[in-house]
Amino acid sequence: MKSNKTICVVGLGYIGLPTGALLANRGYQVHGVDVVQSTVDTINEGNIHIVEPELDTFVRSAVNSGNLKADIKPKESDVFIIAVPTPFHEGYVPNIDYVVSATKAIAPYIKAGNIVILESTSPVGTTDKINEVLQECGVDVNNIFVAHCPERVLPGHIMRELVENDRIVGGVTPAATDATVEFYETFVSGNVLKTDAKTAEMAKLTENSYRDVNIAFANELSILCDKFEINAWELISLANRHPRVNILQPGAGVGGHCIAVDPWFIVHKGGDDAKIIRAAREVNNYKTEWSIEKIKNAALEFKNKNKRDAVVACMGLAFKPDIDDLREAPAVYITKTLISAGIEIIAVEPNLVTHKEFDIVNEEIAIDKADIIVYLVGHKEFKGIRIFGKEVIDFCGITSKLK
Ligand SMILES: NC(=O)c1ccc[n+]([C@@H]2O[C@H](COP(=O)([O-])OP(=O)(O)OC[C@H]3O[C@@H](n4cnc5c(N)ncnc54)[C@H](O)[C@@H]3O)[C@@H](O)[C@H]2O)c1
Repeated sequence: MKSNKTICVVGLGYIGLPTGALLANRGYQVHGVDVVQSTVDTINEGNIHIVEPELDTFVRSAVNSGNLKADIKPKESDVFIIAVPTPFHEGYVPNIDYVVSATKAIAPYIKAGNIVILESTSPVGTTDKINEVLQECGVDVNNIFVAHCPERVLPGHIMRELVENDRIVGGVTPAATDATVEFYETFVSGNVLKTDAKTAEMAKLTENSYRDVNIAFANELSILCDKFEINAWELISLANRHPRVNILQPGAGVGGHCIAVDPWFIVHKGGDDAKIIRAAREVNNYKTEWSIEKIKNAALEFKNKNKRDAVVACMGLAFKPDIDDLREAPAVYITKTLISAGIEIIAVEPNLVTHKEFDIVNEEIAIDKADIIVYLVGHKEFKGIRIFGKEVIDFCGITSKLK
């Protein structure tokens, strides 16, 4: 299939590369842009620099067909898609510098009738900011279409979800919304829902804050249960038998580059009015500090009783079960903090072979060598392991049959 539409995708990471490769396989001429030369070279060789099922097949066939080319510079296209990082600065202040610099980079190539889409998760007002930056760069913004279409794919299922998920499109004008919806409808089988730019931005932040608030509830319950000497997983399992109650599972905090980050974009703009969303972030961060204190106290008790220092096995480093992604992972923070406190730890992460700071040890060897076993992540490899005569601290319910 060939399309006469040309697409320029700016940012070839977890979102931009799958999107570009998918569009190229659907017949669009895709020009992918990344500031990292090695990323550009790898893609032009038909290879990938990130781990995502099926992506290699899509990229290879896109490059072989001539429909996908990568470069460090943008070029004239019908549609521009921005998929660059949106992290935060110190103090949880949103950082849209990458979006602004990507916008400045594409400005010289934009012509009347073009569509400019921001896919990065962004603070409310960022799409309007893109419009402003383009105008400052001399682009006639009255004759282009600028819109936000937040991405909500689940890593590990990106190639399927890019097509099947419902999408939200919010333009800076109704005409921009319409033009952008028409574009997404050429490759998305889910519903493409229309709104304005600010609502689209807030919708994505709301989705992640909703998860964060609900996890915070579970984490707070787990702390209260510990105080009241109740098994939190049994409690949650029982409460969830109510037909309209669905409490999530507690853990050692919240990590990843979305749920632990995006609610701060709301808090930063919302100030004192973002009470629950801020509190949820604080509760989830507190759960991590609380977990550290529990481990330190257990190590101290061990020392008092056995007249020697305890060896602690930190079971899991990733930010959630059964992945190798360590971004914003509470387990990594906990492990590092214990080391700084002078505690001897053994790091276990079945999804990693090596790590630049920790020696990764097999779970069975770690359990054998350690005095205190701390379950930080509920990886499938940890399920069903029987431990005798050692202290076990379980922050993720892996030893609880009731879930
Ligand atoms: N990864 C996910 O699962 C996911 C899901 C939903 C939304 N998002 C959002 O999508 C956005 C992108 O995330 P990602 O995971 O793809 O990030 P990523 O770090 O994997 O990729 C971003 C890419 O952009 C490149 N880049 C940075 N500045 C650039 C510039 N000025 N011009 C060209 N390239 C530039 C980087 O080199 C990198 O390759 C973020 O806002 C993120 O929050 C990500």
